[in-house]
Amino acid sequence: IRWRSTSLSPGDGVRITMESALTARDRVGVQDFVLLENHTSEAAFIENLRKRFKENLIYTYIGSVLVSVNPYKDLEIYTKNHMERYRGINFYEVSPHIYAVSDNSYRSMRTERRDQCILISGESGAGKTEASKKILQYYAVTCPASDQVETVKDRLLQSNPVLEAFGNAKTLRNDNSSRFGKYMDIQFDFKGAPVGGHILNYLLEKSRVVHQNHGERNFHIFYQLIEGGEEDLLRRLGLERNPQQYQYLVKGNCPKVSSINDRSDWKVVRKALSVIGFSEDEVEELLNIIASVLHLGNIQYGGEDSGNAYITTDTQIKYLARLLGVDGLVLKEALTHKKIIAKGEELKSPLNLEQASSARDALSKAVYGRTFTWLVNKINVSLAYKNASVIGLLDIYGFEVFQHNSFEQFCINYCNEKLQQLFIELTLKSEQDEYEAEGITWEPVQYFNNKIICDLVEEKFKGIISILDEECLRPGDASDITFLEKLENTVGGHAHLTTHKLTDGKTRKVMGREEFRLLHYAGEVNYNVNGFLDKNNDLLFRNLKEVMCMSDNKILTQCFDRAELKDSRRPETAATQFKTSLAKLMEILMSKEPSYVRCIKPNDAKQAGRFDEVLIRHQVKYLGLMENLRVRRAGFAYRRHYETFLQRYKSLCPETWPSWQGKLADGVSTLVKHLGYKPEEYKLGRSKIFIRFPKTLFATEDALETRKHSLGERESHVSHAVVVQAWWKGILACRRARRRREAANTIRRFIKGFIYRHNERCPENEYFLDYVRYSFLMKLRRNLPKTVLDKSWPTPPTALIEASERLRKLYMQNMVWGYCKRINPEWKHQLEQKMVASEIFKNKKDNYPQSVPKLFVGTRLNGEEINPKVLQSLGSEKMKYAVPVTKYDRKGYKARPRQLLLTSNSAVIVEEAKLKQRIDYAALKGISVSSLSDGVFVLHVPTEDKKQKGDVVLQSDHIIETLTKVAICADKVNSININQGSITFTMGQGREGIIDFTSGSELLVAKAKNGHLSVVSRNNGGI
Ligand SMILES: Nc1ncnc2c1ncn2[C@@H]1O[C@H](COP(=O)(O)OP(=O)(O)O)[C@@H](O)[C@H]1O
Ligand SMILES: [Mg+2]
Repeated sequence: IRWRSTSLSPGDGVRITMESALTARDRVGVQDFVLLENHTSEAAFIENLRKRFKENLIYTYIGSVLVSVNPYKDLEIYTKNHMERYRGINFYEVSPHIYAVSDNSYRSMRTERRDQCILISGESGAGKTEASKKILQYYAVTCPASDQVETVKDRLLQSNPVLEAFGNAKTLRNDNSSRFGKYMDIQFDFKGAPVGGHILNYLLEKSRVVHQNHGERNFHIFYQLIEGGEEDLLRRLGLERNPQQYQYLVKGNCPKVSSINDRSDWKVVRKALSVIGFSEDEVEELLNIIASVLHLGNIQYGGEDSGNAYITTDTQIKYLARLLGVDGLVLKEALTHKKIIAKGEELKSPLNLEQASSARDALSKAVYGRTFTWLVNKINVSLAYKNASVIGLLDIYGFEVFQHNSFEQFCINYCNEKLQQLFIELTLKSEQDEYEAEGITWEPVQYFNNKIICDLVEEKFKGIISILDEECLRPGDASDITFLEKLENTVGGHAHLTTHKLTDGKTRKVMGREEFRLLHYAGEVNYNVNGFLDKNNDLLFRNLKEVMCMSDNKILTQCFDRAELKDSRRPETAATQFKTSLAKLMEILMSKEPSYVRCIKPNDAKQAGRFDEVLIRHQVKYLGLMENLRVRRAGFAYRRHYETFLQRYKSLCPETWPSWQGKLADGVSTLVKHLGYKPEEYKLGRSKIFIRFPKTLFATEDALETRKHSLGERESHVSHAVVVQAWWKGILACRRARRRREAANTIRRFIKGFIYRHNERCPENEYFLDYVRYSFLMKLRRNLPKTVLDKSWPTPPTALIEASERLRKLYMQNMVWGYCKRINPEWKHQLEQKMVASEIFKNKKDNYPQSVPKLFVGTRLNGEEINPKVLQSLGSEKMKYAVPVTKYDRKGYKARPRQLLLTSNSAVIVEEAKLKQRIDYAALKGISVSSLSDGVFVLHVPTEDKKQKGDVVLQSDHIIETLTKVAICADKVNSININQGSITFTMGQGREGIIDFTSGSELLVAKAKNGHLSVVSRNNGGI
């Protein structure tokens, strides 16, 4: 509820705004913990959270820090209307929201020209990533934009699904857990439009590529590809649509997650990739890599435990060679050998089973990890922009404690210590320091400074990371256990570290022998040292690197640089790299003005409406929220340098307007007294004014707004403005008049042209005729026939009839040519047979039309359905076609099941193992069928031939196909007689038989009373 009044004096405006700010609060609990009666009570704090959570009020402030509780359900608070409501509104006037924080940062960036950052923290599943997405959406919707900006906005938004596909996975804590840290700068130009971005990524959890804990999954992209990838894509990649087939996907035994739809996510990701600007080739190469990782996982080794390993799965190597663009043999060798350089000579030594498996896994991890980094860089290129103000978003893994905690949790939790340190530096400590420096009296707040833990981890020479590196680099028999021992010997006495050996009975019971325990600011975590050295070394054998450097895949050539092979220095260890990148991140964050979003997870079951008090109390504690609140309550919400404050608000007081001549502090004092600030609302320090409540400041801001309006009207530059305005209006009017003139001319020319359209070309109709031609050609372009069969064509104007005819011919020829070029040999063969069928039967036999859409098959009987003895007796004669038929005896017309085989020389009639009759094509006199839709036909043979027992009467269910084949094989296209009514045939020994054809409702073949064979075919009978 903003107060806009010109009739009241500024002082009244201030009062009324303050009132409304106080009453605009949510009705449930307090919307700012600062307003809690008993602000030191944790119970009261949690009670307030609970009350609000019950009413779906998931956001609450502590001063300017936003506390957010994951609702685990979709709330109707992220609509465009909500965004509008928070736009340009002071923090305290509407209920707390992530949009308020977003808007506040945005406005500070615009008005104070200072870079901002929003730090989102909380444990895994607390809603950090969702919060960062909401912020991004808010900017995308509410910030001003131009055309070019639209694409950047889309890219910014679409970078999320891509990064999530490749960097997120289902864990026990969160179905969509970010397995990498992300800091994203959103860049804004001087108009406040988002124009670019930049992403920094931190420590992808690569080990997930090769192993997942029970109930967890690998990165989403693998499942998306397998579930959503199109058939021919999967075929090209050599993948099956079943995640259970892949060793790298079965470890967690959890291929499907109810909250995730891999198939539709796949579509989203494919679209996002093209919005971001990935070319089709790049996508193809990217997917080749993803598929390769799955194939790598399925490589299996044979060999004794101590003997040399060899690869038992050659198909994988074949696919890998193709997908990665490398030599299969070289890859095979690199996966089973290692190259050592000894005394300047290269030696190859074979690997045993275990070494080979871990070399393979190392390759998978390296390939995936580096591809991920490539992906981030690629996105950065598409978002690149220079010279901008920025708002940074930090969404980084929250504090993590599992049953088994390894190197990754160590790094993640170290990162959280650093962020807590930053939070302390920036809020608690700097707050207190400032009061001290300004000579303001206040009670110091006790808080736990976690610097001691950061030092324990990162200190040079003495810190855990240094000790770990030393073990990694030391020659000799260093192992995870010697690392643990070294920890005990060097930092064993530290108050925040203990091990199984060092601790006492009670703790010892809950610790493994291979564990060390860190007392983090957030709580205790036991880390198992198993794998620490390997993960920190992150080694990939030299020859595997060499193979990757030789790849044809353009992404891999960027990921594996040949220069790396020449560099003989040891690469930095994983922990040290992480430490360095964190230090850089801290620098970036320090240079910006921070806002905080502290996310809380209400329960471990990912359930809506459940408020697990124990879990929440723990988070409130380790997020330091109570300390935060105590400092806020003791302190002042806002502070400004005297000079800035006076400069901004001097117009609100007659004594300070238009300028104040005395000391700054006195000016400010006069000003605030005039504004009616009460003594408890502010304090004056050495160089700054401190304002206790934000609402006081906001009220002053509103008064200023009101004042600006009234000032604007009175001042003398009004007349100057009028002059400028008049000129500008004049220019606009001239432009409008010119455009109107031009439009009138166009219309006039058009009408004239229409009148003279039948004359010879002349200046009057030139414009019109050209227009008609042009529009016909344009129309033609839009309405070209799509297929050879489409005979439509737009009607041309008279002047273009000839041209149109020629174009049509050319276009048809072109389409036909294109069609022919696309035909493959099989289809060509099919069409040739159909042509023959058409020549023989079209308009002659009733069931021909039904046969047209059905494809002719190669044969109706395959090898196993024909008796081997028959095949044997056919010897070397090639079988062309076989079909089951019914034969009608010459005597009595009994129906017998037979097979008709067409070989290269003859038609053969077979009864199971017996070759009943063989008709050489040369001897085949002709073939008779009826014109109706029955399947009966007669093969005529010479009567003189004593070997033959007379003509053969057969029936086939595929008459058109069968006879076409016979015609082609026997070269008798012209010897097929199609008869109306009846067929006469010879029965041997000069006797004659007759078949009568009629049509009826039911197919019937039987001997009639007159001794003829009567065939009744159905009106729309079979083919
Ligand atoms: N504001 C919200 N509204 C609705 N659901 C949410 C919200 N924040 C988080 N969630 C739910 O919680 C899940 C975990 O959130 P996410 O942001 O991925 O956690 P984090 O990044 O902290 O690990 C999301 O997938 C979503 O289902
Ligand atoms: Mg996340």
